[in-house]
Amino acid sequence: MGLSPLQSIHMTEKNSIKVVDKIKDMQTLSSNIRKEGRIISFVPTMGALHEGHLSLIRKAKEKGEFLVVSIFVNPTQFGPNEDYKKYTRDLESDLRKIKEIGVDVVFSPDINEIYPDGFETYVEVQELQKPLCGQFRPGHFKGVGTIVLKLFNIVKPDIAIFGEKDYQQLKIIQKMARDLHLEIEVIGLPIIREDDGLALSSRNAYLSKKEREQARALSEALGEIRMRFNQGQNDISDLIHEGREVLNKSLIYDIDYLEIRNGNTLEGKEKAKSGDLVAIAAKIGHTRLIDNIKL
Ligand code: PAJ
Repeated sequence: MGLSPLQSIHMTEKNSIKVVDKIKDMQTLSSNIRKEGRIISFVPTMGALHEGHLSLIRKAKEKGEFLVVSIFVNPTQFGPNEDYKKYTRDLESDLRKIKEIGVDVVFSPDINEIYPDGFETYVEVQELQKPLCGQFRPGHFKGVGTIVLKLFNIVKPDIAIFGEKDYQQLKIIQKMARDLHLEIEVIGLPIIREDDGLALSSRNAYLSKKEREQARALSEALGEIRMRFNQGQNDISDLIHEGREVLNKSLIYDIDYLEIRNGNTLEGKEKAKSGDLVAIAAKIGHTRLIDNIKL
């Protein structure tokens, strides 16, 4: 008795933040914290942290009594021609950004720790993974569901926080938590944006100056659709047409999708209603960006 929950856990201290990189250590630590009756809150990330991530981490600090942030660029959610290799990895810089918030532990495992030889078990949320990004990134949500369930089993959180920026991901995780009886409250928080409306994303760093200018059209197109809806238009094909015009004016033609769907089930429809999701994915140069709003 009287032992600290951190006792005998192997961790390093970087920028005065405790970093754990082994699954067993993280599990033991989380079990010790839970035995003390403390509420664990958790924010999973792939690093390259920005204000969007920080907003989730601050809320998690408020909501829990022991705050864990994970930083792991998960290979199984990237397609073969996607940016897994070039994704920004800078642990030191990420730790500096979260220093003021009071994160109790950062879990930052190696790829071999998470996917040892012979790994072959995956989680899929059958229907919700199909539309929107699912059509354009085959296997993406299978990778996301699998890594998030793994992280949940490692960190053992009571509360997990995700951004609405990745709206379909949030819905998939909430569904997985429900379907698999996870005792975890999965909370979604609003998108943090730049002053001109562009949703913050780790991938914005890939944009050239000119592409950054073009990129504002994504949120403008969503805004245009919402404005027309508020003026009484509810025919979805008309609304989408208006949105596409805004994109084309900024020379954005490489549009994976611009769609209006039911905000809970993500089912398609013909007439727009309050609470529906307007979601977009488009490429600007080589960079694929996503955004969404609710009507
Ligand atoms: P990542 O892209 O690093 O995002 C981590 C979390 O930050 C996600 O929940 C995402 O929705 C949220 N986020 C990103 N940009 C945001 C913004 N502008 N405003 C608010 N929240 C924002 O999403 C992932 O990592 C991975 O798929 C992960 C869940 C970690 C699994 O590998």
